[in-house]
Amino acid sequence: MASQKVFTLSQVAQHRSKKDCWFVINGRVLDVTKFLNEHPAGEEVLIEVAGKDATKQFDNIGHSKEAQNLLLKYQVGVLQGHAFTESDKNAFFVESTRKEMSASVIKG
Ligand code: HEM
Repeated sequence: MASQKVFTLSQVAQHRSKKDCWFVINGRVLDVTKFLNEHPAGEEVLIEVAGKDATKQFDNIGHSKEAQNLLLKYQVGVLQGHAFTESDKNAFFVESTRKEMSASVIKG
């Protein structure tokens, strides 16, 4: 289950190295340290936004549904002041049953 622990942006900003890399996308605080090696576009672009809100950068790329679902795996909490909508809650559900649903998630 995705964590609902609340972080401020300055707390997120304390994690901006290769060995400890966090950022925020759509109000979700992500610890992507283990994902750096796996990112199809490499780790450098991720390290550039480490400790920041990377929502715009993430959206500008036009990441696939698969990528959007994948990021839930790295969620460690939410950004302070961020309110989740009903569809966001469904996304948590997708994450918690990710293994069973992976085939349909990939098809989007
Ligand atoms: C946890 C967060 C992220 C995940 C899970 C993720 C995942 C992916 C995946 C699966 C792809 C392959 C193409 C696709 O499926 O859309 C991709 C491509 C890419 N990502 Fe990410 N990404 C993340 C964050 C970011 C961020 C923050 C940036 C920019 C600062 C970024 C920049 C790119 C670029 C430049 C590509 C290549 C696009 C292309 O080849 O056209 N990604 N990412």
